[in-house]
Amino acid sequence: MAHIIDGKKIAGSIKELLKQEVQSLKSQGLSPGLATLLVGNNPASQIYVKNKHRACQEVGIASFDYHLPEMASLEQVLAAVEELNRNEKVHAILVQLPLPSQVDSHRVLESILPQKDADGFHPYNLGRLLSAKDKKELTQKDSVIPLPCTPHGIMALLESTDQSISGKQAVVIGRSVIVGKPVAALLLAANATVTVAHSQTKNLEECCAQADILVAAIGKSKFVTASMVKPGAVVIDVGINRDGEGKIWGDVDFESVKEKAGWITPVPGGVGPMTIVMLLKNTVELARGYRRK
Ligand code: GUN
Repeated sequence: MAHIIDGKKIAGSIKELLKQEVQSLKSQGLSPGLATLLVGNNPASQIYVKNKHRACQEVGIASFDYHLPEMASLEQVLAAVEELNRNEKVHAILVQLPLPSQVDSHRVLESILPQKDADGFHPYNLGRLLSAKDKKELTQKDSVIPLPCTPHGIMALLESTDQSISGKQAVVIGRSVIVGKPVAALLLAANATVTVAHSQTKNLEECCAQADILVAAIGKSKFVTASMVKPGAVVIDVGINRDGEGKIWGDVDFESVKEKAGWITPVPGGVGPMTIVMLLKNTVELARGYRRK
């Protein structure tokens, strides 16, 4: 039976450290601030945004909640981002995705100042992530690269196991900009040999079964079954899939896979709490970067 990686607990201890850090920054006259911009009424997005504000409150980060209607135009969204770019109390801006179809998300993400990019989705920051040659370059204190929150959280979960990443075979299922592509870049920077699998991948089962580290970011309930998992592998489940009754399931069939894997993250209580805590961490680091300027 696999070790369960307790994301809630790991996130809790990072949160405690952040709380102290925020207190110390405040005593020096700097109050870190995060603004969220939600467009429309997507119920899942509303819950995510609410949770982000609650987490800010818990560690003492000031949070600003901006909401535009479902029918907002691209120009209205860009104007809201521009206002936040200029607001000195806001050190980090998060535009909740997905945006309604009339709003070009690339244009919006590119309009966020890279030095206020809470999610690390600005092409400049994604480019810096890709061009970093190793982990050290990614985490240099004097030139913060905000890392996408879920991938950053996944790396912290992997580092919490006693397994090294260097030289391991890692398979990421899913190629989104939010999870798949940046987590592949981070795994590569940590010297893993990385395969990114997706809906067009042939022999997916065989491919996954080679993985020492398997990251499932597909968006389909219980997609990863025991036959796709190498005995002893570290399995990270990024899925948040709601069934008809509102119950949440991961992308991994936890009950069968836990018998075969060496380590596994539960859903809920695995990746989810880490995503939020990394958003708080990015906010604090961006606020510090602001002070350095
Ligand atoms: N939608 C789903 N995940 C995320 C995320 O990490 N950041 C943003 N901005 N939107 C999301």
